[in-house]
Amino acid sequence: MGVKREYSDIEDLPRVGPSTATKLRNMGFHTVESVAMATVEELVEAGIPEKTARMIIDEARKVIRVEFLQASELLKLRENIRKLTTGSRALDELVGGGLETSTITELFGEFGTGKSQICHQLCVNVQLSYEEGGLEGGALYIDTENSFRPNRIVDMAKYRGLDPDKVLENILVAPAYNSDHQMLLLEKADEIIKKNNIKLVIIDSVMSHFRSEYLGRELLARRQQKLNKHLHRLERLATVFNAVAVVTNQVMSRPNDFFSMGAYPVGGHIIAHRSHTRIFIRKAHGKPGLRIARLVVSLDRPEGECVFRITNEGVIDEEEV
Ligand SMILES: Nc1ncnc2c1ncn2[C@@H]1O[C@H](COP(=O)(O)OP(=O)(O)O)[C@@H](O)[C@H]1O
Ligand SMILES: [Mg+2]
Repeated sequence: MGVKREYSDIEDLPRVGPSTATKLRNMGFHTVESVAMATVEELVEAGIPEKTARMIIDEARKVIRVEFLQASELLKLRENIRKLTTGSRALDELVGGGLETSTITELFGEFGTGKSQICHQLCVNVQLSYEEGGLEGGALYIDTENSFRPNRIVDMAKYRGLDPDKVLENILVAPAYNSDHQMLLLEKADEIIKKNNIKLVIIDSVMSHFRSEYLGRELLARRQQKLNKHLHRLERLATVFNAVAVVTNQVMSRPNDFFSMGAYPVGGHIIAHRSHTRIFIRKAHGKPGLRIARLVVSLDRPEGECVFRITNEGVIDEEEV
């Protein structure tokens, strides 16, 4: 058995001097945890010699477990996975007790169905204690459509008996002006996540910039490549920091298609691939405030539907008025 090594900053890693540390940071690796999830190719791309890169990554990986595991050990690791309440018991039950840490959840639906409202509610809920269904942490909200409204957080916090000012303090909002900026924000996020004990990372909405900037068939491959990198980054952050990751996505109307929902999430197979849980949200016609959530894809839950409500107080159960 070797001596147990503790690295708190990237500079503590062997062979990482000031110049290598700068190279790592420029590539978006600000913490030992994110270096552990890097590939040798990424570090070589940053100008670090291959042998050194391999060594740095190997050392960083001693901090977190990245190795072959027995299924029984895997089960134990799964015990670290926590669930974040949505605010509605019915919706929590649909997804197996709340949104899971370490994976990406996609909320998709038409404009005005309440995707951003749910995101706001999650920013409040993540701050609750574990007993109350929270993760005792903060939220990072990457806002691509200027959807974030602090006054909604205040409404929701008050209803849950929380101090609105404190709740607002623990939500970091980053407006993203275009897809490159959106990607950059996530690349710079690891240090912020660690420093602020962020347990929820939201991208609302993940596709809007990509969709408007990469028009036409010729750009599709490039778009999907970038999107894949972006979501891969999000997935890694969620895993390393055991945080909940949520992306929202709009739908294109397509009658008589896609699970007979009459709608189709944009982003193609890339988002489908990277989202472990996909929830389709729609309005219940003729019933103001009422919404229907449908679990479309889950790695370990059956498909199903539930009803919940969006009110001035936030996301609540149908009968909770
Ligand atoms: N203060 C509020 N009280 C009640 N309902 C609200 C309030 N604010 C927003 N909503 C509901 O949320 C809807 C907007 O949802 P939003 O999350 O912005 O949709 P999406 O992000 O899916 O496009 C509104 O149409 C309304 O039904
Ligand atoms: Mg929205």
